[in-house]
Amino acid sequence: MKLKSMFAGLVAGTVLMGGMASAATINFVSGATGNDLAIFQELVKPWEEKTGNKVNVVPMPSSTSDQFGQYRLWLAAGNADIDLYQMDVIWAPQLADQFVDLTEAAKDIAPLHFPSIIESQTVNGKLVAMPLFTDAPALYYRKDLLEKYGKQPPKTWADMAAIAEEIQNKEREAGNKDMQGFVFQGNAYEGLTCNALEWVKSNGGGQIVEADGSISINNEKAAAAIDAIKGWVGKIAPEGVLAYQEEEARGVWQVGNAVFMRNWPYAYGLGNSDDSKVKGMFDVVPLPSGGEGMTSAATLGGWNVGVSKYSANQEAAIDLVKFLGSPEYQKVNAIKGSKLPTIISLYDDADIAAAQPIIPRWKDVFLAAVPRPSAPTKVKYNEVSSLFWSAVHDTLSGKGTGAENLEILEAKLTELKGDAW
Ligand code: GLC
Repeated sequence: MKLKSMFAGLVAGTVLMGGMASAATINFVSGATGNDLAIFQELVKPWEEKTGNKVNVVPMPSSTSDQFGQYRLWLAAGNADIDLYQMDVIWAPQLADQFVDLTEAAKDIAPLHFPSIIESQTVNGKLVAMPLFTDAPALYYRKDLLEKYGKQPPKTWADMAAIAEEIQNKEREAGNKDMQGFVFQGNAYEGLTCNALEWVKSNGGGQIVEADGSISINNEKAAAAIDAIKGWVGKIAPEGVLAYQEEEARGVWQVGNAVFMRNWPYAYGLGNSDDSKVKGMFDVVPLPSGGEGMTSAATLGGWNVGVSKYSANQEAAIDLVKFLGSPEYQKVNAIKGSKLPTIISLYDDADIAAAQPIIPRWKDVFLAAVPRPSAPTKVKYNEVSSLFWSAVHDTLSGKGTGAENLEILEAKLTELKGDAW
């Protein structure tokens, strides 16, 4: 993404606004993953028609870490061109001061949403952002391949690795040279924090920093879990997985070259689209656990929308936020984009269940999902996460063992924490 072209988009929006006396143009910045933005543009049309306002979508890179870096700069500079930000679930405690309190505006619709999600976006009594959709990952598997080799969907990571290896190797021998056992997000960014938290937590190794603020990551179970994944790189996962984000993993999967994939629900609808090679050939199960007696862990994700304190169009922007937080909007977003609603009643909606069967099945997975330690580490979360994903990425790349890197990580986190987070 070229910053210059983004600015050109913003300027065009501003000029347009000058020409249309009463109507406002709302500049909305949002990461672009899959077909997100095309769906968004279609879905806001009714609001544009009703109000006479326009929404100018400024597309950002798919990586949440890249978005965060850019947004922090814009907000620090008091950028008045951007009215609305699409915000990752982990950002609210870090950016709370820069956003308008939506409590009053949301008072009629907030009770329709899961209280835990509203709470995750509430900082010191201020509703920082309105939930758009929630997220909890799945293990995608190829039904046809598992059936062909007489396998059941795996319940443990070890099972998953064994099945992945066997099917990958047999398929390669049969001429499918590009077949991979497992694809996930191994790039050094927030997505790796999500993946690695799942490996660690589902093996009994804790949550990096616990809810009470204590640093727990330097333990044997966590180190062993990360070392095990290191053993998969180049064996059941391509070497290139260390540069994969969500879309790279989906790319390999959707052309039919992976037995298993870890990804978010957005990949379900796209995988079943007409141009997908795996349409109708896959299903999803919860992520595996570390073994007998351990439970699977899915990292809690999700996206929200917040009104910038520096916006010159706050009234119109807040009106748009109310529309985006409504059941009508979330229903279509679920049907078209396979996004998990944050509105409780939509999990019983027959149209959604028919269009995207993953959604009603995923309610319990999302309700049990594990939060990243953004609440206890507050404004330091981004740095905590970046130290964690770097330690994991180093281990997966063969730069030190899990135990060595987690020991260094613990020292760095302790220094970062100081007396308190
Ligand atoms: C998904 C999640 C988000 C997470 C990101 C990591 O978009 O919804 O919460 O931070 O993936 O790549």
